[in-house]
Amino acid sequence: MRDAVSGLRVNAERFRNNFESLASVGATPGGGVHRPTFSQAHFQARQWFIEQAERAGLEARVDGAGNHSARLQCGLPGSRTLLLGSHLDSVPYGGRFDGALGVLCALEVLQTVKETGLSLAVDLEAVDLTDEEGTYGNFLGSRGLAGKLRAEDLENPSGGQEAFENALALAGLSRSGLLSAGRDPNSIAGYLEVHVEQGPRLAQAGADIGIVTDIVSTCRYRLKFIGRADHSGTTPMENRRDASQGASAFALAARETVLQTFKDCVVNVGNMRFEPGAFNVVPAAVHVSLEFRSLDRQQLQRLERSLFRQAREQAERFQLALQVERLKATAPTPMSSEVQQVIKEAAELLGLRSLSLPSGAGHDAQSFADLCPTGMLFVPSVGGYSHSSQEFTRWHDCVNGANVLLHATLKMSGVMRAVL
Ligand code: HGY
Ligand code: MN
Ligand code: MN
Repeated sequence: MRDAVSGLRVNAERFRNNFESLASVGATPGGGVHRPTFSQAHFQARQWFIEQAERAGLEARVDGAGNHSARLQCGLPGSRTLLLGSHLDSVPYGGRFDGALGVLCALEVLQTVKETGLSLAVDLEAVDLTDEEGTYGNFLGSRGLAGKLRAEDLENPSGGQEAFENALALAGLSRSGLLSAGRDPNSIAGYLEVHVEQGPRLAQAGADIGIVTDIVSTCRYRLKFIGRADHSGTTPMENRRDASQGASAFALAARETVLQTFKDCVVNVGNMRFEPGAFNVVPAAVHVSLEFRSLDRQQLQRLERSLFRQAREQAERFQLALQVERLKATAPTPMSSEVQQVIKEAAELLGLRSLSLPSGAGHDAQSFADLCPTGMLFVPSVGGYSHSSQEFTRWHDCVNGANVLLHATLKMSGVMRAVL
């Protein structure tokens, strides 16, 4: 039986057809997708996924957190579930591989296992997790499924309360549904995720598969630099309390701080919103979306202190007030060493070169790592581009990812019998 199982491969043609169909949902010029959580395109992509699952004879379900799943029962009483996940939502005008590849690899693995009549010791579940990208609140679906969402986590959604309420209603979800979506942790046998690397390291190393060792911590804050609205034509320059000066000086200082003192961290000012935002009014206030990341908790705390010192200094320099609002913080998350070994062995079985590396991107796996054996595998990103229509992974690398996920799944599922 061992040869029969080790010779198993996914159906690359079906996998490709599914990938191209899904990539057409919310497609943008240049090969990207625009599928922010609970947008029409996102709803369409999720519906497409459920239809594929039903067509494949898998059990389709949606939980209180809006997670969309396809399930393959193993038929054993009291069996636990091995989750194979990722996400179908995207950043605004993102790439067609981020998240979608992982969900499609998961679906393809369930279809392959079902077709070959393998009977496993666990149920398999391909899951599209809600709002991984944080249009409203990072990792909403995976934190909901992991039973980690608290009422306070829903109090300050990115994009504001009203937008969140409307979106939940549109999606047929509720706060109470989100908060009660938690599964019994004992029912989860593990979590595996395929994802594009979204960086250049695998390509630079000539590796086919990335074995994720740790996932970075991400902190998000909203800063508000507050000055005074004035006439832009009549107010002498030296009399102005111009909020744009403090916000802009801070953005430049934050970058310098990381480049000079926190070399293996990153910082990003992803948005600035000016109030009132007119040509002829000196900005009264500027809202700054700030994010910074590190693999080390202590370093993150030092970086946080340094950035807020910079923000206060720039505010004083331009006679501004400063408000700071914390939005989220994920902890640096180690992946299971056992699961890393399983992924390594699966790659070796397929004759693929693997490289162990940390993830600079956040992932839903962070919601499961302290709950069950959790691991991620990467496939190379051409040029390292992501979160843009430039995102690209060669098709044979996508198929490699699906095959490694298949064999990692079989190794974690205790293959009972193969009817081949
Ligand atoms: O932001 C991230 O790291 C991920 O793409 N959500
Ligand atoms: Mn992403
Ligand atoms: Mn992603």
